[in-house]
Amino acid sequence: MAETVLDYEAEAAHYDRTRGGVPRAGAAAEAVLRLVPPGARSLLDLACGTGLVTERLARPGLRVYGADAAHAMLRVAAGRAPGRVVRADARRLPLPDASLDAVTAVWLLHLVPFTAEIVAETARVLRPGGVLIATVDKDAAHDVGSDIDEILRPHRSAAAASDRADLITRYAAAHRLEPAAGADFTGHGQGATPRDTVRKLRAGYFASWFPGDPATVDRLATALAALPDQDRPRADPRYRLASFVRRG
Ligand SMILES: C[S@@+](CC[C@H](N)C(=O)[O-])C[C@H]1O[C@@H](n2cnc3c(N)ncnc32)[C@H](O)[C@@H]1O
Repeated sequence: MAETVLDYEAEAAHYDRTRGGVPRAGAAAEAVLRLVPPGARSLLDLACGTGLVTERLARPGLRVYGADAAHAMLRVAAGRAPGRVVRADARRLPLPDASLDAVTAVWLLHLVPFTAEIVAETARVLRPGGVLIATVDKDAAHDVGSDIDEILRPHRSAAAASDRADLITRYAAAHRLEPAAGADFTGHGQGATPRDTVRKLRAGYFASWFPGDPATVDRLATALAALPDQDRPRADPRYRLASFVRRG
């Protein structure tokens, strides 16, 4: 199974430490801000999680808000952005039409099967000229070129990923969101180890891109367990942000 909102209720206490902390959040925020138009005055960080990225989106003249579906994540975010975070499902935002200059969604779209609804909802709340900035192809970025990747890649089904760039671009086009510039950021601390990859594989964590049968899971787990340096993280991934401008 892929991670769900419920997993994040349990995860909040460990989230920052296990997701690259300040270096990863800083790199993500810096890349997002490169794509926010200079005149933007309001930004919603959708699926803001613990707010570690949200609080780094500060820029003079830009009001930054956060929304997330998980209570526990929001409680941490509320300490970082007091009065500016709200609990909401990304498909139903408590905001009027055309009320924001920018919406960002870092590490959300790979988690959920309803990305078309999320893109439609962000288009609704964006003003003409506003931008949607979202990570795409997240899981495909992992372990590229590593020995872990050599074992897993032949079995990956890119078609199964809910945040495929071409899919998100198609959903966006249906709501007058046109592709604009992209950016990359380093997922500091996100390089995988073979041992942890085996654990995640067996837990079904990769189900969004790996619809493998139990025999294949066993075979891959055995190959991963035979790799050297079981606890040495491989290179940090580079994640991709796509952006889309709302036409009037
Ligand atoms: C991987 S975390 C990313 C958090 C943050 N953007 C970051 O980069 O640190 C994913 C977040 O998405 C939230 N989430 C999952 N499904 C959601 C939904 N349908 N609506 C709003 N938030 C959702 C989870 O609660 C979690 O906080």
